[in-house]
Amino acid sequence: MRKTSDVIWQDAQHQVLFELLDRLKQPGADGRILQRLQEYAENHFALEELYMHALAYPDREAHIESHDRFRMELAQLVDEDREFDELFQEIVATFLTEWLTRHVFGIDKQLEAFILQSGAC
Ligand SMILES: [Fe+2]
Ligand SMILES: [Fe+2]
Repeated sequence: MRKTSDVIWQDAQHQVLFELLDRLKQPGADGRILQRLQEYAENHFALEELYMHALAYPDREAHIESHDRFRMELAQLVDEDREFDELFQEIVATFLTEWLTRHVFGIDKQLEAFILQSGAC
């Protein structure tokens, strides 16, 4: 259940990202879901970055660097010219789950608190 203290758009988008990740772990998942996740993550990062700029968020440089590293890793995974077999699926799903969990419950929470106290959400 959503808390009233959540930044609604950010929370909802994180949920979609985790849902896409769940779909990526299902048997029969393929590169199209990975691509969908990449597109969704890009839109989500862009929106967070828009807020960070608009609110002059003090930690924005490190946060955007973190997004950029993820963008690079994801682009590499999407580009890899290899079959989306079970091993690749597992490697990709494990990596993305670890990264996303750490990011969403780490620096994204700090950003959320900042947006909340700014009253801009
Ligand atoms: Fe986020
Ligand atoms: Fe973020």
